[in-house]
Formats: sequence, structure tokens, C-alpha cells
Amino acid sequence: MKVALGNDHGGYVLREAVLETLKKNKIEVTDFGTFTADSCDYPEYGLRVAEGVAEGKFDFGILLCGTGIGISIAANKVKGIRAATVTDAFCAEACKKHNNANVIAMGGRIITPEQAKTVLQAYIDAGFEGGRHEKRVRQIADIEAKYFK
Ligand code: RB5
Repeated sequence: MKVALGNDHGGYVLREAVLETLKKNKIEVTDFGTFTADSCDYPEYGLRVAEGVAEGKFDFGILLCGTGIGISIAANKVKGIRAATVTDAFCAEACKKHNNANVIAMGGRIITPEQAKTVLQAYIDAGFEGGRHEKRVRQIADIEAKYFK
């Protein structure tokens, strides 16, 4: 399994926890940084990860910023991306089971590194349930097709 990781300075604090969890699960990571706590612009990193996931280069993406919100909004501007900002294991599991989220976003000012490990593990362990959720995810794609030119 291959994943892409991207973060700004606000998400920097969660990087080690994420990398450790990926290693534990033997998941290969392409790390787009940023690699320091210096201020930078989250849309840049959201875009890099989202493009890679949308192009099929990665099984999923992980994005980190202060809240997880800005970087997921940026990623969701890329066609085919379903980025979910999650704060706990329940949401992490649900975003995979129900929404087939292909990017998970977390906030370094919202959750602790220990919590990020639990959240990411819940996402990794979950699978898309399909069925009635398949129809709804298709409806999301229909909205994309209508508005993305
Ligand atoms: C950066 O200060 C902060 O705005 C960013 O990390 C993120 O929280 C945006 O949504």
C-alpha cells in the first residue's frame, strides 16, 4: 500500500506520529513535507497530495494542518478527491466505511500525536461498505461532474 503525506507548519507536530503509524502498518509513504515548523501555505501541500491520489499514484492521502480544515478544503478542489477532516476514531472509521474518503485530514492544534495514531489506525483498518453508500458516493461524483469543468 502506498500513501502520500502533506502538512503545513500547524500540522507539523503530528508528522512523527503519522510516520510511525505508517511504518508499523508497513505502508510506503511519499512525504511531500513541509519538513520544518516554519510558516508556509497549506493549499500547496493539499494540492500535491490530492493530485497524486487523484492520479492513482497513492491508495490514500494524509493531510495535516492546524485544524485539518483548510488543507482538506484545498484538497477537495481536486476532482475525484473525498477528503475528510477527522478528530476521532469514530469519524475516521465512518469516513472510510460510508464516504470512501481517499484523503484523511487531521489538525495539530486539535488532537495530540497519540490521538492522531489512533485516528489514523481506525481509518487504515476500515473498509468501504459499498451498498447504499456506493449510491451516495456516486451522487457526490455527479455533483463534481456538474460543476468541475
Ligand atoms: C495556519 O496558521 C493555519 O491557518 C492552518 O494550519 C490551518 O489550520 C488552516 O485551516
